[in-house]
Amino acid sequence: MPNAFTQEQITQEAHRLYGLLGSVSKTKAARWTLDDCRAAAPLTLEINRLKKEKNAVILAHSYTGPDLVYGVADFRGDSYELSLKAREVSADVIIFAGVWFMAETAKIINPQKQVFIPAGRAGCTLADSMTGADLMRLKAKHPGVPVLCYINSSADVKAQCDACVTSGNVFDIAQKLPGKELIFVPDMLMAQNLEAELKRRGTPKKIISSGGSCCVHDKYRPEHVKKLRADYPGISVVAHPECPIEVCELCDYVGSTKGMAAYVARTQAPVYGMLTEFGLVNRMEAEHPDKKFIWPFGVCSYMKRNTLANTLQALADPLPAQTVSVDEQTAAAARKAIEKMFELAQ
Ligand code: 13P
Ligand code: SF4
Repeated sequence: MPNAFTQEQITQEAHRLYGLLGSVSKTKAARWTLDDCRAAAPLTLEINRLKKEKNAVILAHSYTGPDLVYGVADFRGDSYELSLKAREVSADVIIFAGVWFMAETAKIINPQKQVFIPAGRAGCTLADSMTGADLMRLKAKHPGVPVLCYINSSADVKAQCDACVTSGNVFDIAQKLPGKELIFVPDMLMAQNLEAELKRRGTPKKIISSGGSCCVHDKYRPEHVKKLRADYPGISVVAHPECPIEVCELCDYVGSTKGMAAYVARTQAPVYGMLTEFGLVNRMEAEHPDKKFIWPFGVCSYMKRNTLANTLQALADPLPAQTVSVDEQTAAAARKAIEKMFELAQ
């Protein structure tokens, strides 16, 4: 249970939170209110107190809730930004508010740290679509072909790849690899976007993939882009490369979570159509209160399993299900693929 804080401390914290979240949508129809912030305040106060006591840092993916992202996180970002942070932090404890493969990656690249994930074994339809044995079979059918895996994969899959990639560096890293063929797993939609992008760049490759997709981004259709353009003249539509290629081809910008945020920051459109997860929309609303965002739909229920309450639990008295561990043999092989990404991303 949170420490007893005075009414004055709670009111002050509620106003701090409201200053950060007042322009952010809590649901599609409603914004964060001062009362919402007052309810969150005892938790954020206690989490921020415990972080100091335990020498812990909180890394939060942009798709978790804005109360976590702005109320308690030390670092917020996309998969690549957070894996870089996880590699360099000096704190004893990392609380990773994200999904399992992200926390597992943090443990692999910084094994001396204790890593906890508030949401427990929160999956991801991409990471859960392929086992190490599945990849072994695919590789056996295509001997000698370089193998890249998306970071949204299990440690067992990473352990068998030449390099890991994120949505922010997949195109550049794939272009650097030798040969006319490439195995890229487990996202079949990103694989199609990758094949098209390499062709556009004049360095075509045949991409061999598996059958996974993101249950959030795979739902967008060309009709959604067309409707946004009809309803909001001048709209700039952005999408993640986990979306189907027919959708990406109609958008003004396609890129990683960080890339979409940077595009919004550097452009001036009357309105932005966000074909991505609600958390990024929330971040854009917080960081650009002067800009307007339209979000058709798209919530990752796995990411949203991270809450202030279970973040407090993970800090105060972590449950076994919140404790991240990877066997050293798998971790050593997976680490090589992740380190290769850092090298190739330069
Ligand atoms: P980012 O690398 O863009 O953070 O993507 C991770 C993810 O899970 C997107 O659905
Ligand atoms: Fe996985 Fe999609 Fe959720 Fe990202 S948004 S964690 S890819 S299910």
